[in-house]
Amino acid sequence: MRLTCTVNGEPREVDDVWPGESLLYVLRERCGLPGAKNACEQGECGSCTVYLDGVAVCACLVAAGQAEGRVVVTVEGLAPGGELDPVQRAFVQAGAVQCGFCTPGLIVAVHDLLAHVHS
Ligand code: FES
Repeated sequence: MRLTCTVNGEPREVDDVWPGESLLYVLRERCGLPGAKNACEQGECGSCTVYLDGVAVCACLVAAGQAEGRVVVTVEGLAPGGELDPVQRAFVQAGAVQCGFCTPGLIVAVHDLLAHVHS
């Protein structure tokens, strides 16, 4: 199938997508966006967290077909033009990266948390 959606503000058409493959796979392997990480693939660790229509989701649990026509924002999308989001800057300033593998998912999750706390 052809998947048509918006990723980080840009319209994307991705061909040869199997409807059952994960949105995480599409983002990483077909769109060249390695920010969301593949760790547990079971919705347990959160390293793959992205926004789907403004809702934080585990991209490993979203079938590619479910993203049809929808808006996806990855950790890369939080830094348009290379300008870091305040959450990203805070992680850098605090050295809150540990090994760094799950950091992108944590950043999206914290970004989402703060959006809800401040609303
Ligand atoms: S890879 Fe662990 S929650 Fe998706």
